[in-house]
Amino acid sequence: MNMVIFWIDYLIVFSLAILAWSLIIFGFIGPPAVATPRKIILQALAEISLTKDAFLIDLGSGDGRVLAIAQKQYGAFGLGYEINPLLVLWSRLRALLLGVKNIKFKNKNYLKQDWSKADAIYMYLLPKYIPAVVKKIENEGKKGVMVVSQRFAIETWENKLMEEIPRKSNSTFIYKL
Ligand SMILES: C[S@@+](CC[C@H](N)C(=O)[O-])C[C@H]1O[C@@H](n2cnc3c(N)ncnc32)[C@H](O)[C@@H]1O
Repeated sequence: MNMVIFWIDYLIVFSLAILAWSLIIFGFIGPPAVATPRKIILQALAEISLTKDAFLIDLGSGDGRVLAIAQKQYGAFGLGYEINPLLVLWSRLRALLLGVKNIKFKNKNYLKQDWSKADAIYMYLLPKYIPAVVKKIENEGKKGVMVVSQRFAIETWENKLMEEIPRKSNSTFIYKL
């Protein structure tokens, strides 16, 4: 019996070590995965008037916290696309441990997915990724979709800007299409 417990402990520690190591390695070779701080997420979500059952997509969902907060606070359905499989695993585990339902995370390139049913879209992406996202939303987005761009303004949407939450270096920009 003691031997069984020893091996289970050993396996858990070994798996956690592999997971931690992979997160570090992927952090260096994959796209940067900086998470939006909780306080900023709460402020941003408060501005987009998410109703219960609204459908929110996070483009590059990182550790999944944006969707988890949106579900807990507003009851919104969430779908996150994330290219880093380890972050997808972590997001699912995190949601499970926190008991958050109605959010899903898919290990997919967001550019190849359908966003047409989203009531709101959240993104915290480097400026070089933004033009492709803008084009796709303009072509396929639902009329009236709310778009949150964390940290980086969308220059071509100046006339669609509903709200800016100014901060020293981490402002939030909210647009309505
Ligand atoms: C700055 S993080 C933001 C994470 C989360 N949205 C947040 O605000 O906390 C950007 C995330 O986008 C992911 N990403 C970048 N390009 C992607 C793509 N084409 N498809 C899916 N995910 C992508 C990265 O792996 C990274 O986790």
